[in-house]
Order: sequence, then structure tokens, then C-alpha cells
Amino acid sequence: MTQSAAITTGLHSVGGSGDVVLSPVRRTLAEALRSAEAHLTASGVPSPRVDAELLAAHLLRTERVGLWQYLQRPVPDGFDDLVARRAERIPLQHLTGIAFFRTVSLAVGPGVFSPRPETELVAERAIECLPGQGTCRVVDLCAGSGAIAASIAAETQGVEVHAVERDPAAGPWLVHNARQHGFLAHLSDVEGCLPELAGTVDVVVANPPYIPEGCVPRDPEVARFDPPAALYSGPDGLHHMRLVERAASRLLRRGGWVVVEHGDLQGQLAPQVFTESGAWVDVVDHVDLAGRDRYLSARRAGS
Ligand SMILES: C[S@@+](CC[C@H](N)C(=O)[O-])C[C@H]1O[C@@H](n2cnc3c(N)ncnc32)[C@H](O)[C@@H]1O
Repeated sequence: MTQSAAITTGLHSVGGSGDVVLSPVRRTLAEALRSAEAHLTASGVPSPRVDAELLAAHLLRTERVGLWQYLQRPVPDGFDDLVARRAERIPLQHLTGIAFFRTVSLAVGPGVFSPRPETELVAERAIECLPGQGTCRVVDLCAGSGAIAASIAAETQGVEVHAVERDPAAGPWLVHNARQHGFLAHLSDVEGCLPELAGTVDVVVANPPYIPEGCVPRDPEVARFDPPAALYSGPDGLHHMRLVERAASRLLRRGGWVVVEHGDLQGQLAPQVFTESGAWVDVVDHVDLAGRDRYLSARRAGS
């Protein structure tokens, strides 16, 4: 017996001759998931088990629900490395290159904002606001990866979907996702965008930046990896709300709808931007699934 066999656990003997040959015991995926969950919990990752499972599913090229088939098989190569990088609070979406949003998956990575689950309700509301009949037109302002635009294009028929984004670093992600999901990408500022569509749009939807300048996001994933241009919006966090209000009022046909996400402390101030402009009726604020003020909807005055 070699010395290492006496002192090493996690090794077993293989081979049929008199000599004992040592090789590492491969942990099962079930075991690796348990230790990954503990590691990610200790690093403050908010959803440690889900993230560990999504990283494993990514390596195994399967869906998370299909992981049960692999639980008693050896852990896939590269799993521990991905878990270690997630424990450094690199966003899950940057490690897999994919963000799931409603029914679509989007290519994401450095330079573009990772779509959030709370925005899924904003996209849903925009779909509900579409007129029931005929071809219609939607504009997603401050589009980032194009998550809202992509889900609307995927979940509806006969809808022409445009997405507007200013940041050149986000541009390639938006253009790629537009090709994949069948919407039109425009690299432009919200201010003055799409003049050819003025007065013809049925629904304008947006998840603009809304954090007041000077605030520091709590989560390291946000503070270190989301582009600042996607987060900050003037001293009160409402600079982009005003830009979106003006652009929506210019783009929408009379009676068309605007749906805009805002911060959970802006449930009074964000709708006020719309009520004060005089261009809107039916200004209503809505909560997210956690019951926090999250987005507003309003209708362009005139029927
Ligand atoms: C909070 S992110 C939202 C991205 C995407 N809508 C989503 O929900 O995943 C805001 C986006 O607005 C873009 N943006 C900021 N100012 C803009 C402007 N003036 N015109 C167009 N896009 C802008 C940022 O670059 C960023 O991609």
C-alpha cells in the first residue's frame, strides 16, 4: 500500500493485479450539488440551489427539470469551476451566456443588462394592452438585450415589434437577439427615436434606468456587472421616466397604451410624471408578485 493511500480519503483502488492503483472517486452530481449549495449560500448568493442546478444543467446541455436523470452519475467536468466563479458573485447569466425571460432565452454577457423576473409582468401587461384585431405595432424603449421585445414577438402574432437601445456595448446583444426572435433593433437614443413611426404605435413599453444617482446597489452582481447606463437616472431616478413619457406621447396613436417599469419606491412619483403632462388618461400603478409598486400603465388621451 502506498503512503498516499493511507492518508487520502476520496480515493479507491482499481485494477486486478497485486499492486493497488489509485484513482480519484468522482462525486455524483447529487453530492456535488449539495456542496455547491453550501458554498453558494456561504457566499451570499440569493438562490444557491437553483443556481447550482442551472449551472449543472448548462454543462449537461439539458433543462433544469431534466437533471434528475443525472443525479447519480459523475459530476460533469467544469462544474466546480463554474460554482467557484458564481461564488465570486459573477452573474449566473454571464456564466451560461443565457437569460431566460418568459418564453424566450436571450444571449447576454458583459456590456448588457441581465433581464429580471419582475420585468416579465411588464411584458405581460404590454401584451394585454394590444388591440385584439389586425396588425399592430409595439416599441420597446431602453431595450437592453431586447428581452421585452423578444417575448412580445414570440407570444403574439401579427405584431411588428421595434426595440430602441442607445448603449453601443449593448448593441451587438440586441441585434443578435433581434435576429433570433424576429423583432427590429434600432441603435438610437429614446429622445427623437423612430420619427417615421410618430402617432402610429399601439403600445410603448419600457424598463428604463431608475436608480437615483449616488445610490449604490446592494447586490454585487448589479454593482459590478450591470452597465451604469442601465441603472442610473438623474438625481431623483426619474430622468428616463420623463424621456419615456415624451417619446411615448409622440409615438403612440390616440388611445394607445404605455407600460413602464419603475423602482419600488416610485409608486407615487412615476405615475405623477404622466398625470402632470396632461397627455394621458387611465394612469394606474401596478404591483409585482412580491406586492411592491413596480410599473405603471396609461392610455394616450383622445380616442
Ligand atoms: C434597466 S435596463 C433594461 C433593459 C431591458 N429593457 C430589460 O428589461 O432587460 C435600461 C436600458 O436602457 C438603456 N438606455 C439608457 N438610456 C437610454 C437612452 N437615452 N436611450 C436609449 N436607451 C437607453 C441602457 O443602456 C439599458 O440597456
